[in-house]
Amino acid sequence: MPEIDVKNERCSEGVAIVIFGVTGDLARRKLMPGLYENARLGRLPEPLYILGFARRSWSHEKMRDVLRQGVMDYGRTKPIDESILNGLLDNAFYIESTFQDQSGYATLNQALNKLGVENTLFYLSTPPGWYAEIVEHIGQSDLEKCPQGWRRIVVEKPFGRDLESALSLDGKLHAVFDEDQIYRMDHYLGKETVQNILAFRFGNGIFEPLWNRKYIDHLQITMAETEGVGTRAGYYDKAGVVRDVFQNHLLQLLTLSAMEAPAVFNAKAVRDEKVKVLKSINDISGEKAIKNTFRAQYVSGTIDGSRVSSYRDEPDVAPDSITETYMAARLFVNNWRWAGVPFYLRSGKRLPNRVTEIAIQFTQVPLALFGQRNLAGEAPNVLVIRIQPDEGITLFLGAKAPGNVMRIEPVRMRFSYAEAFGGHPPEAYERLLLDSLIGDATLFTRSDEVEEAWRLTQGIIDAWDEQGLKNLPIYEAGTQGPHGADFFMQNDNRAWRRI
Ligand code: BG6
Repeated sequence: MPEIDVKNERCSEGVAIVIFGVTGDLARRKLMPGLYENARLGRLPEPLYILGFARRSWSHEKMRDVLRQGVMDYGRTKPIDESILNGLLDNAFYIESTFQDQSGYATLNQALNKLGVENTLFYLSTPPGWYAEIVEHIGQSDLEKCPQGWRRIVVEKPFGRDLESALSLDGKLHAVFDEDQIYRMDHYLGKETVQNILAFRFGNGIFEPLWNRKYIDHLQITMAETEGVGTRAGYYDKAGVVRDVFQNHLLQLLTLSAMEAPAVFNAKAVRDEKVKVLKSINDISGEKAIKNTFRAQYVSGTIDGSRVSSYRDEPDVAPDSITETYMAARLFVNNWRWAGVPFYLRSGKRLPNRVTEIAIQFTQVPLALFGQRNLAGEAPNVLVIRIQPDEGITLFLGAKAPGNVMRIEPVRMRFSYAEAFGGHPPEAYERLLLDSLIGDATLFTRSDEVEEAWRLTQGIIDAWDEQGLKNLPIYEAGTQGPHGADFFMQNDNRAWRRI
């Protein structure tokens, strides 16, 4: 291993970020650009050291070059300020070690001592199969302990691949770290527009009185992607939408839409309320899960004018794979606010547009006064919280069209993030990295939250497994999704919004 050349004097205020798996994509695409952006805005503690830990035979220089290129390629604010970037990279060092080798952790310990930093953030940016092993070695080296400062660990998703493995991983983490040292990442929570759900609901007086079963007919939460499985089939083919995004991102969006106002805005209070929502969701397992979910897989089609291949033809996908690339679910939150209001969730790959949104459909007026001339429909009021792209909030209304007849047409009132605040919202990783350095866990998921989300998801996974299908319903890439998902809605006399 090359010698670590320490530029800064000992400084107990400093922080070291130890990135396990620094040679992977995440460090280059998200972590380093996120750190750079925080550095640019003067938000990082000083000094900040980056210790990359991975198995490849890299030098400090090689790691710095790769991370530098990551910022050049994926940095949000261009042009990149070289002096800020160099400042960060001058304090970046590489430790070459396998994750099983205890002596690598001893080297890490020495490096931390040499740098004189007490406060350390461990970041698990490796394939999830390594998490437990790394945590165990951290524990064996007592690296999680620091009487004069803090030690924390960020755990990337996926957090387990089912309820059992999630519980087991949680047990292993808790054998070494206390819950308040553990930051479980769901990058959706770092999106500005996701946080805006709370600002919108609890920072305004006019919507909350309507935010219940009396005035809301149903909610539709959509996460549609144009991308296919890309190069990630090795992971994805064993995961499917249900593990990849339903268990985490979709359920997170649901909890934020449905939760009660916390008494205060802090990690405990917010997460307490979110857990209550998850606990109130009707149990869907067995027959109920089959009735209340729908899954499908894409076949070849056209997106943005280009032909794309079928899921089963993607590299590393089993030719007889029955992994779902689309799923829809109907859930009910059984509490006084929401009893009887369906929450429809859907997500899919290879859909015609990339869009994530929460649409709140309000109930219809009690009398249809305008009959045939109400072109806005019977229930024209939909509030759409657009998470991405075109971040913003739109309220659809019926308004009288000019003229001498009472003709009601649909119109919209719109808040656009870009128009109001200029530019695009910051990247989720910028915010979440900073929060983990500051010690604010509000936007990270807590142990019981993850467990509840898995409990719910497991019911669906088991029911699907028991069904033992040999083929899934299909949908052509670039279309609105499988037809079966429309029937799924039509049974309730409702329809999906267009993607
Ligand atoms: C990840 C999933 O968590 O989220 C991916 O593993 C998905 O499959 C991605 O594409 C979507 O994130 P975003 O921020 O692009 O909506």
